[in-house]
Amino acid sequence: MYETLLSLLLCTSASGVLVDRSLEAGARGRDVVDTVLYRIRRSRVFPDDDDFIRRVAYTENMFGEDSWTYRPGYAGGLWNTDRFNMSQYDRPYRSISPKLRNIHEAIKKTMGIDWMQVTEADLLKPLYSGLTAWIITELFRRQFPRPSNVVGQGEWWHDLYSAQRPVYGDFQNRTLELLIEDMRPFGGKIDLMLVVDGSCRVGMEAYASSLDSLARLVGVFDLREADVGLVVYSNRVTDKIPLTNDLTMLALQESIRSTDYPNNTANIYAGIMGAINEFQTLPNARKESGAPKLMVIFTDGNHTAGPDPGLAAEKAARAGIVTCAFGIGDAIDDGQLLRIANNDADFKFKTESHYTLREQIVRVAQRAKTMPQTLKMGSDTSVTMKDGDAKRYFLLEVPEEGATITLINAKGETRGYWTFTPEPPSSALYEGVLTEGETFISPPRLGKYWRRRRTNLTMPPKNMLLTLQGVEADNRVTLWIDKGDVIGCGFAAAKFDVTYFLLSATFVITTVLLK
Ligand SMILES: *[C@@H]1O[C@H](CO)[C@@H](O)[C@H](O)[C@H]1NC(C)=O
Ligand SMILES: *[C@@H]1O[C@H](CO)[C@@H](O)[C@H](O)[C@H]1NC(C)=O
Ligand SMILES: *[C@@H]1O[C@H](CO)[C@@H](O)[C@H](O)[C@H]1NC(C)=O
Ligand SMILES: *[C@@H]1O[C@H](CO)[C@@H](O)[C@H](O)[C@H]1NC(C)=O
Ligand SMILES: *[C@@H]1O[C@H](CO)[C@@H](O)[C@H](O)[C@H]1NC(C)=O
Repeated sequence: MYETLLSLLLCTSASGVLVDRSLEAGARGRDVVDTVLYRIRRSRVFPDDDDFIRRVAYTENMFGEDSWTYRPGYAGGLWNTDRFNMSQYDRPYRSISPKLRNIHEAIKKTMGIDWMQVTEADLLKPLYSGLTAWIITELFRRQFPRPSNVVGQGEWWHDLYSAQRPVYGDFQNRTLELLIEDMRPFGGKIDLMLVVDGSCRVGMEAYASSLDSLARLVGVFDLREADVGLVVYSNRVTDKIPLTNDLTMLALQESIRSTDYPNNTANIYAGIMGAINEFQTLPNARKESGAPKLMVIFTDGNHTAGPDPGLAAEKAARAGIVTCAFGIGDAIDDGQLLRIANNDADFKFKTESHYTLREQIVRVAQRAKTMPQTLKMGSDTSVTMKDGDAKRYFLLEVPEEGATITLINAKGETRGYWTFTPEPPSSALYEGVLTEGETFISPPRLGKYWRRRRTNLTMPPKNMLLTLQGVEADNRVTLWIDKGDVIGCGFAAAKFDVTYFLLSATFVITTVLLK
């Protein structure tokens, strides 16, 4: 018994109970907002929002940090949504348009929420407030298209969304803060290839402008941890910066800005193939490091030469490279863009012009920062995080016999949140928390928990997602991963379960007997 207690003190064990604060009334904060947005985006009920809904949550009440967010007598929740009844009935005499009915059906199908049963009080739960905001803005967009740029979105917010003391400029100023934050340096590992459109449709000036946006984007990465390269394509690959290079940040940005404009046809296929070749030149040690591989392909429309670019994107996916498609301008073939993104709408972006790209490039930075690094069994990984709100994302394939993760704080204090769900874990969504010391994690069994989460799994999930975050600023942490239950934590936990069961049984029997 003593031994059991001791190991229980030393090790936390996988409990597999999901904490989901997006359904907790009155929850607030960035992680909660991100969890809500991730789930709604992933459901694909609504088209891409150009980051508008997140910006609204920050403008309205700083992700709920404003103290009056959950004031008595008001149930707008994190998104300050005042027109809840319109999300149920958008036509006079309590009737519903076909568009709204489709939205309700899609919400029911993907999230299991019967929207007609929702009441205004439910909006205290962040997911419900977020859904209301999304439904209302979709309904308004039927009549009033919303621009993707910050100024246009700000006017739209002022005129249509905000019912309380809207001030011109509020949205713009708050969004600017978010943009600065999203472009803050990121010290994580990543291999990134930029694939740039140099076709004649683009035009010299727009080409230079988009190179400038890319130079700003690469400034986010720490070149000691990140490899960044570039290819320019037109009828063929005309210029490149190798993925393995030892350029300083300034030199890299300078070479991006000074690549020549080829001004010919658009052979996107050739561009993607050129970038795949660059990934193959990486040294073996780097290939083995588990660093995420990302290729961002810019295009201002349909390809006009070469094979179908979707085929090249499939080849990239087979080589373990994630492709992100960025369409620029109004001649975008959406289906082709989606194929270039290997049918993952989370990696498909659009913007009106090469000039608005400057502002929208932040979305690539957001995506790149959250791509998980793959952890290897029997290896260690060291992570340094300077910023207080910096996070690092990891993926671990947990074998049948489980895995033991040892976390050692070399500096400061870092926590890890983990799940086996496809949603990225954070303080708002996790099955367990890693703190200093050993944690044994066993793969989940199929059961009520997975059925409840409306997954359609025939095999239990094996991939664990882990997010590391410092408790305060300036942290250095090391993770060791070992196969199986190295220190007997699982055994202790199993014993604990039995003890707990016996104790509860005794309690129940005693209670019954006493009656
Ligand atoms: C919607 O709610 C508001 C206030 O909560 C109310 O004044 C209005 O009449 C309601 N509209 C409908 C169509 O029910
Ligand atoms: C937005 O920021 C500008 C510049 O800092 C400032 O002059 C303006 O008053 C701000 N507007 C609002 C509505 O806060
Ligand atoms: C690009 O090519 C077109 C003809 O195809 C020509 O009119 C234009 O001046 C060229 N632009 C540049 C910047 O070379
Ligand atoms: C793009 O090209 C494909 C095939 O070449 C064609 O079927 C499609 O209609 C084009 N789309 C646009 C928007 O031009
Ligand atoms: C669940 O799985 C079955 C059989 O594999 C499939 O036919 C069905 O479409 C799946 N449902 C969803 C919602 O993915």
